[in-house]
Amino acid sequence: MRVLVTGGAGFIGSHVSRTLLAEGHDVTVLDNLSRGRRDLVPEGVAFVEADLANEAATEQALRGHDAVIHLASFLEVAVSVAQPVLFAENNIVNSVRLLEAMRRAGVGKIVFSSSATVYGVPKSLPLRESDPLGMQANPYGATKVAVETFLGVYRTRYDFDCTIMRYFNPYGPNELCEPESHAVPNIVRGMLEKRPIPVYWQGQQLRDYVYVEDLARAHIAPLEQSGFHVYNVGTDIGTKVADIIETVSRIVGYDAQIDDLGERPGDVEASYASSEKLRMELGWAPQVDLEEGLRRTIAHYRERLGIRE
Ligand SMILES: NC(=O)c1ccc[n+]([C@@H]2O[C@H](COP(=O)([O-])OP(=O)(O)OC[C@H]3O[C@@H](n4cnc5c(N)ncnc54)[C@H](O)[C@@H]3O)[C@@H](O)[C@H]2O)c1
Repeated sequence: MRVLVTGGAGFIGSHVSRTLLAEGHDVTVLDNLSRGRRDLVPEGVAFVEADLANEAATEQALRGHDAVIHLASFLEVAVSVAQPVLFAENNIVNSVRLLEAMRRAGVGKIVFSSSATVYGVPKSLPLRESDPLGMQANPYGATKVAVETFLGVYRTRYDFDCTIMRYFNPYGPNELCEPESHAVPNIVRGMLEKRPIPVYWQGQQLRDYVYVEDLARAHIAPLEQSGFHVYNVGTDIGTKVADIIETVSRIVGYDAQIDDLGERPGDVEASYASSEKLRMELGWAPQVDLEEGLRRTIAHYRERLGIRE
């Protein structure tokens, strides 16, 4: 299949592109490199440097493709609070521009990167796709809900095949967030650089950490589906941030220093998935456990930061 990956020069997109290639697909990455890096696009993948805001360029890039995996967006929650208009434009309006360009180019299949954030504060755990969407605490989450809703419109009106993937907490090599706002890169980098690790809620929050290569594999089977589908992508295991710190500390052989930042309003206390639907319907299951995933992530950051044993 000929697949166009928006945001394919970013963290998750780089792994998705590599996985698609390995599965024998023809892959084009479209990315404006606002966050992504050209060198993260794997060899053998066609690259188009374009902004989704440019509908004509997107339409031209789309011609001849069978499907789109749409990952391009901004994602730093704190920035979304400071600049909601920027997020609404890049994440919502540019997604609608992409859908319109797809319609004109005759490409009617899309897989979209959504997030567990759409559930808001969980009423029960694990979170299931049948749970209602919750009130959003920041503009980033609101953009995911909005794009999910637009996909429903394109399904209803134009018969698009749409798959919504609600990621839990992806981690692994190639993560770009600077400054790091995600727990795993924060902990791994802090520990390797022997800096105190900023920790909220004394590390007691529960999250569902999914290794990025496992997450990337979850995008393959939906390409064969038609209709409208929603899947959680997580490991179904809730892990405390404190446990990540302990594991990384053991692997690196260094006692972590903690910078206790207390409580952070708006944070969800616990969130983890039921990925049963993805397992049952598409046969996906995570293969890399947390210990192994952290080892690989640490090895990546050692290389990237030039820090040896
Ligand atoms: N990383 C996470 O923890 C996480 C969790 C849940 C959902 N997601 C979603 O997964 C997707 C990928 O996230 P990521 O962590 O790989 O982010 P990332 O920043 O590494 O990658 C996003 C890519 O999109 C590109 N991009 C942004 N706006 C663009 C535009 N207008 N035109 C073209 N390219 C554009 C950036 O240059 C970047 O390469 C996003 O939609 C994100 O919201 C990520």
